[in-house]
Amino acid sequence: MSQLAMHHRQQVQAMLAACPLVPVITIHHPDHAVPLGRALVQGGIRILEVTLRSEYGLDAIRQLRKALPDVWVGAGTVTQISQYREAEAAGAQFVITPGVTESLLAHGLNAQAPLLPGISTISEMMMGYALGYREFKFFPAEVSGGIKALQAFAGPFADVSFCPTGGIRRETAKDYLALDNVLAVGGTWLTPEDKIEAGDWNAVTEIVTGSLSDIS
Ligand code: 3PG
Repeated sequence: MSQLAMHHRQQVQAMLAACPLVPVITIHHPDHAVPLGRALVQGGIRILEVTLRSEYGLDAIRQLRKALPDVWVGAGTVTQISQYREAEAAGAQFVITPGVTESLLAHGLNAQAPLLPGISTISEMMMGYALGYREFKFFPAEVSGGIKALQAFAGPFADVSFCPTGGIRRETAKDYLALDNVLAVGGTWLTPEDKIEAGDWNAVTEIVTGSLSDIS
């Protein structure tokens, strides 16, 4: 494994160790980014996955990096190398993809920001494994076998760890986190659209504190 790949792995491990819950954030109004980020951090979150699903994703990453220099801010829903580069230019400290392509996996090896590739099958995981990746997003977790699939992955690949996302809720987060091969879990239950639209930042903080207390 190259020095850079080792450095990337250390960064991915550090960011997922920083916080067991990864809020998946989609910004529909640029003014929402910083108050939402602050509300999440106020509740105890230390990592923010900002998706590029809306036109404001890159701007939100820029704003959050500036406003919250002490937490990990990265880009999610990256599906193309051009987006990877744009995310890095905006200041993303990591990049998450929903799935893998050979070119994205290869690009991630030499990129500035480490890649957490998304996989939903053992074969996809093995594509990344062959290149040195050992940490993956497991997406969409619930419909891809959920906890049972992760337990099965641990048989042949005991040295691989996951951040499952997709269909995970406050009630199920703890069961995922109880698995040895799960470092953190992600999801949108921490960032409900209605609360964001209403600017109810206290409600967001309460959801976070409640979710963190449920898993402790
Ligand atoms: C993601 O990109 O990780 C998912 O959209 C999050 O899935 P969820 O809405 O089921 O939490």
